[in-house]
Parts: sequence; C-alpha cells; structure tokens
Amino acid sequence: MAVMTAPPSSKAEIVDVKFAHKALVDRLSPGGRYIDAQTDVDSPWVPFGEGAAIKHLAFDVRQGLFSNILWVKGPGVVGTHLHRGTITMVCLEGSVRYLEYDWTATPGGLILEVPGESHTLVTEHPEGCKLFGWMQGPIDFFDDQANYVETCDVWWFINHYETYCRENNIPINPKLYV
Ligand SMILES: [Fe+2]
Repeated sequence: MAVMTAPPSSKAEIVDVKFAHKALVDRLSPGGRYIDAQTDVDSPWVPFGEGAAIKHLAFDVRQGLFSNILWVKGPGVVGTHLHRGTITMVCLEGSVRYLEYDWTATPGGLILEVPGESHTLVTEHPEGCKLFGWMQGPIDFFDDQANYVETCDVWWFINHYETYCRENNIPINPKLYV
C-alpha cells in the first residue's frame, strides 16, 4: 500500500467505519463533545481573585485533568505556583510572561509547563491576557515568603465552578464532566 501523504479528502460525506469495538465505545466512552467558549451558554466566567476570571471547559477526575480559559483583565499577576503535572496552554489574546523565563507569549503561541517547575505569571499588556489551558495535576500556590498556601487540583476547579453556579442559579452543565 502506498504511503499516505495526506488524508483522503475528496468528498464531504460520512463513511461508516467498521471499528471492531464500537459496541464497547457506545457502552463505555464518555463521548466527544463541543463546549462553546465565545458565550456563557455552556460555562460562565467565574471570578478568580480581583481582576481575573476563569471559564471552565472540562473536568476529568480520573486523570486529574481540567481545562479552562484564564482571563486576566488587565496588567496583573498570578502568584508563584509549583506544578505537579503537565500544563499545555495557548495564548488567545493579549500577552503574558513568567518572571522566571526570558520569553513572552503572544496570541497563537503554545506554552508548555512540566512537573516540578514553579513560576510567577505576569501580564503587562493593557488588556491583560486570555489563556486556554489543558492542565493535569495539582498546582501548589505559595505566598511572597514562599509559604505554602493551597493546592488547586481538579476538585478545586470543580468546586470553583459549582459554587459559583449554585450562588447564581446557573444550572451545572454535565458536558463539562468528561
Ligand atoms: Fe504555571
């Protein structure tokens, strides 16, 4: 068989793929889904401190995964934190940097963070930044004296979302739980 250089793409039509384990997928898979992030229909902006908010997009308690958009609404800081898992983020708007690194993220750029790193997020952009994140593992936060403050993990993020929904009579969206 010839090596494929690009996927077949001559027709826009559904092809019935005979996957051997389809019945298992139907029974056990949580299913793919779409979460709208341009409006509040699927998920509201939940305040995160003074000048920031989080739009929660997905929670997976099996793998300790959480996905959201962090919106820092003007020049600001997210205090020093230590990751226990891997973070994948894309800068959507504005710009952001870390005091510990020599680069600045701008829209479209990919940010990778790995277990064991601690860093301090700063945006100096007049409109702050919006960051999409697909994040795994606990994040330990510290004060300016390096005293441990709190751990934010998938349970913390679920509680952050659900508490706000309860207080504002917003139905909890089952689509966010994968
Ligand atoms: Fe981080």
